[in-house]
Order: sequence, then structure tokens, then C-alpha cells
Amino acid sequence: VKCIGILTSGGDAPGMNAAIRAVTRAAIYNGLQVKGIYRGYKGLVTGEIKEFKSQNVSNIIQLGGTILKTARCKEFTTPEGRQLAYDNMKKEGIDALVIIGGDGSLTGARIFAQEFDVPCVGLPGTIDNDLYGTDTTIGYDTALNTILDAVDKIRDTATSHERLFFVEVMGRDAGFLALNGAIASGAEAAIIPEFSTEVDQLEEFIKNGFRKSKNSSIVLVAESELTGGAMHYAERVKNEYPQYDVRVTILGHLQRGGSPTAHDRILASRLGAAAIDAIMEDQRNVMIGIEHDEIVYVPFSKAIKNDKPVKRDLVNVLKELSI
Ligand code: F6P
Repeated sequence: VKCIGILTSGGDAPGMNAAIRAVTRAAIYNGLQVKGIYRGYKGLVTGEIKEFKSQNVSNIIQLGGTILKTARCKEFTTPEGRQLAYDNMKKEGIDALVIIGGDGSLTGARIFAQEFDVPCVGLPGTIDNDLYGTDTTIGYDTALNTILDAVDKIRDTATSHERLFFVEVMGRDAGFLALNGAIASGAEAAIIPEFSTEVDQLEEFIKNGFRKSKNSSIVLVAESELTGGAMHYAERVKNEYPQYDVRVTILGHLQRGGSPTAHDRILASRLGAAAIDAIMEDQRNVMIGIEHDEIVYVPFSKAIKNDKPVKRDLVNVLKELSI
């Protein structure tokens, strides 16, 4: 491998820039040429590609978003689109790809690597933390801290008015942000997709003694069709428990922005450097993760299986500490 291409794809996540910087600098350090591909797979299909030197990634470690831009690219889901992408890679002399993104982006990489003989290495970049084989994903810690900041503020008004707040957080069918956000913010409960078929989580929350010792409560709800979202629970409370004064806050895309935390910057830097090690070792079609503080290589098929479990003990911690 002489030249690598790097792209960010899918939903952006704070720390993606730190990862772009790490991949670029580690590659140059190891004598490789680097090309930045713009707008995710779209730039590969349309040929929006530019050579990156060390200074192209100066002063970006602290920035949210991604300097390479990002997109969810329809063309790349078709064989014709992927052929165009491959042709552009060859034209540009790119012989390996580093893809920073979530499960959709790594699925694209897996299919591309299967069709063409291209080494693809993935970095887990998503606030959702839903990739198997890594303790955390790039952006998750920053999003969690953004949630804390918001919930701390909501707590002030919830307490003053003695209200029940449902705060909807992101996660796309994964409850990591909601559950850990609830523990870290001292919220009273979390409603997460992982348990949506097991129990009525609203009933559980009420049954667990809601308002026995408190006059206000905050429940974090993971956005998902499986939970129904925060509005759904507010409506239910209005109908089933009309004595409570209910409000809803949907945090939305503010969770995707902001300067990455130290954790995300270090994670992105370690993963980015490890991606280049993996390419130099002839690894292909793996996601780089960190488990128990060690770098691991996870086959794409395993990383995107979408069954990273939430830890049951976290649920108990939340329950015990919210009395
Ligand atoms: O995957 C990251 C994420 O922020 C999810 O939590 C959320 O469901 C989705 O992206 C939102 O996507 P979009 O930015 O396209 O609205």
C-alpha cells in the first residue's frame, strides 16, 4: 500500500476531525500518501478527492463536525455506484481506504471490499455507541456530556415547577446515551429500546415509587420506533396519570455538535494511528476498536451485527440510585 484514501460517512460525530488528523499524520509518518475524500462515499463516486499533507489537518483536533463533510450516499448502495467509486480510486492511485462512520458506513465498506479487492479499515465514528467490538465509539462521550449539560439545566426548571420531564435523546435504536445519560445526570429513569418488548418501562418507573420522595422527575427516553419517543410517554401520562404536570424536551441534533471531549480526542487519535498500523500489517476489512484499553481488530460483519448489549447492571444502578 502506497496511498490511502480517508472519508467520513453517515451521521457526523465529535472527534471525527481528531480521527482524520490521526490517520493522516500516522500515514505520512509511515511514508504513505494520503487523499481526503469529500462527502463520504459520494466523493468517491464523483471523484471529489484531494491530497492531504500534514498541514491540511492542523488545528482541527478541537473541532466538532468533519472537515471532510459527510453524507449518506444512495449511489454507493448500487453496484453501478460502487464501480464508479472503484474506478475513481484507481484513477487517484488510492490502494486502501479508511472509513470513519457508523454501522451504515461500515456496511458499505464491507460490501465494497467484498466486490473489489480493496483493503478497507473502519473506525467507529458515531454518537450512538452501537458498534460491537469497541467499548466506546468516537463521539459518544462528547454527546453524553452534552446531554448532561442539558439535563442539568432542565433539572433547575423541573424542580422549581415540580414537573415530570421526558427528555428525548438520540441513539437510533440503541439505549447507551439514554441509560448512561440518566445515570450521569441523576435522572430518575431511562426508557430504552433494548427493553421495550420486555416490560412496560413507564409502568415500571411509576411502580418504583415515582414521587414518593421527590416532587419532580426526569426520564430520559431513547428516540426509537421501539420506544415511541418522549412525546408518546408524555401523552400516556396525560391520559393515565393526569395529576402530573408533564413536559417534553427533544434534544435533537445539538447532541451531534461541539468540541470533542478529551476522551473522544484520545480515542480518535489512538484508533487513527492503529488504522495505519493495521494497513501496514496487511489487515483488511476490519474495524479498529478499543476493548479493555487494548486495540482490537473486529471483522466488519461482527462490528455491525447490531447486538452490542447494554449492561444490565447499569439498569440496576439507575434504579437503586434514583429512589
Ligand atoms: O446515527 C447518529 C444519529 O444521530 C442517530 O442517533 C439519529 O437517529 C440519526 O443519526 C439522525 O440522523 P439525521 O442526522 O440524518 O437526522
